[in-house]
Amino acid sequence: MIDLEFIINPLLEALRISSHPYRLFSFSNSSNNTPKNRTVVLRDFSKKENYFDFHTDVRSPKVKELQANPAFEALFYDKENRIQLRFNGQVSIHHQNNETKKRWETLSLSSRRCYLAPYSPSEILDEYHCNLPEKARFDERDLPSIIDEGYKHFTIIRCHFDQLDYLELKYSGHIRCQFSFKKNTVESRWIAP
Ligand SMILES: Cc1cc2nc3c(=O)[nH]c(=O)nc-3n(C[C@H](O)[C@H](O)[C@H](O)COP(=O)(O)O)c2cc1C
Repeated sequence: MIDLEFIINPLLEALRISSHPYRLFSFSNSSNNTPKNRTVVLRDFSKKENYFDFHTDVRSPKVKELQANPAFEALFYDKENRIQLRFNGQVSIHHQNNETKKRWETLSLSSRRCYLAPYSPSEILDEYHCNLPEKARFDERDLPSIIDEGYKHFTIIRCHFDQLDYLELKYSGHIRCQFSFKKNTVESRWIAP
């Protein structure tokens, strides 16, 4: 069987290297039986506790959707090595708690700036607006005095995975296997590519 470390270690590298192919992934959920999919940034990964995180604005529609139905699928693709990872599980939503407090302090000013948006993400606008306050738009020196106003919107979506589908494309024959994560064990099996 493929060594799980071999699959997971590149995800840990992606946390440090912003150009890494796993840094961005597609996150999907289901809302009233309609599929929803979008690109997000990988922000944390726990090998020990089987979860990874992305950040979002509490006002974005996906937060309400995930409160109603926490099931997710997340898709990563490494183009150079032709490896696809598909994770399934359930999310937990962290807002204004110890986790978000600790994480907020680690974020760069430019990451924190996103949460100053005057309009709720996805809100319909009468005319174009970049959704940044004027004061936060051009000069980084203005940011420190207002940056923490965004904290109230900052949210961690924690993706607790219980299944991983690994697919590696190879001319000599594709490789595909599935891992099921139980409480203290991991089961694996080959499946047809
Ligand atoms: C490269 C890239 C990275 C993105 N990263 C995030 C992210 O980490 N979190 C997030 O909420 N939205 C991110 N977005 C925006 C989402 O793709 C999406 O448009 C937005 O979150 C609204 O989704 P929703 O209406 O389903 O809530 C990113 C978009 C792009 C193009």
